[in-house]
Amino acid sequence: MAVSTDALVRDYWHLVAHRSELARPGDFVRLDWMAGELVLHNDEGEIIAFDNVCPHRGGRFFIDDRGAARAVCPYHGWSVRGGEVRVARREQFTACDLEKAVLNRFRTQWCGDFLFVGIAPVMSLEAQLDAFAAPLADISGDIVAPHDIYTIDFQANWRVGVENALEGYHVNSVHPETLAPMALRDDVDSYAVLNSAYHARVGHARTARGLEDLRRFFDLRAGFEGYCAYYLFPFAMVSSTFGYSYSMQTYFPAAEPHRSRFCTRLFAGRPAAGAEAVSDTLLNAAAPFNRQVFDEDHEICRRVSHGYDLDAEDRIFAATEARVRHLAQTLRAIEEAQAASAAPHQRWNIAR
Ligand code: FES
Ligand SMILES: [Fe+2]
Repeated sequence: MAVSTDALVRDYWHLVAHRSELARPGDFVRLDWMAGELVLHNDEGEIIAFDNVCPHRGGRFFIDDRGAARAVCPYHGWSVRGGEVRVARREQFTACDLEKAVLNRFRTQWCGDFLFVGIAPVMSLEAQLDAFAAPLADISGDIVAPHDIYTIDFQANWRVGVENALEGYHVNSVHPETLAPMALRDDVDSYAVLNSAYHARVGHARTARGLEDLRRFFDLRAGFEGYCAYYLFPFAMVSSTFGYSYSMQTYFPAAEPHRSRFCTRLFAGRPAAGAEAVSDTLLNAAAPFNRQVFDEDHEICRRVSHGYDLDAEDRIFAATEARVRHLAQTLRAIEEAQAASAAPHQRWNIAR
């Protein structure tokens, strides 16, 4: 038995966007998740989250990943304003109940400038993020603009992707020319109930010096010397090197068990006044680098056997895979709580 992904989707908050992506009226982000699509939309100043399905005949409001437009269904012209559906040529609907012409909307909640969406979360966002709420809010305040967005139709279960992102043990074999040369060292894992984080210093001296020299071009509150990655249970990661740019990954489950909906987005850290060009140069270099790293991760994840049991009790973990073990323990604790049909937050007994 394993925790059902449907339950994970329904019961927890999900990091889905940064405020800078939805800053102006009309701005939207579209994400694939499960069998459907999630839309985050700046609806005349209010940020709303809804299923990308028109309640009339199922037309999709948006097909691009990101952009700015009014939510208008191109099929028969129904639109969304103030979170409500506007029916085109309403007088033609005489013998039916237009009360049913509503969007399937989701709950939204902010942690700083990070946007989370929930279907029926079993706890508050603060409780879910626990000790990571404060550092995440600080990080979110250092992000000023979206840059690259890259999606992969991931040919592996979401958990294979997340487990890969939770450990650095694979870096030398999977990323020999991209990440391995940074030679991360002095790494520290930390935990906040369901979530975990990784902080490390850049071991390659010349790279480290080069990165330190760039600090004067940035105006950061949450900057730090090195690399950090936060895993936000169940499907999201936020990572950065020195805070100059941030990347956000979501590994949403797909309807098929050995697929997931992967999206990585790159954001600009706040440049110092007059240093915008330096930030742009860095982002333009970081975007293809990040894409390559995630292509490398995807290549190895799709090789993982569908027969490998992610829930087996006797799995083997290196010390550098402690966060993978923590996730396995977390999922087992949730599963036991579900089996005992107690509220999960009363039943967690997760090693820190
Ligand atoms: S399907 Fe959207 S208006 Fe008809
Ligand atoms: Fe990797």
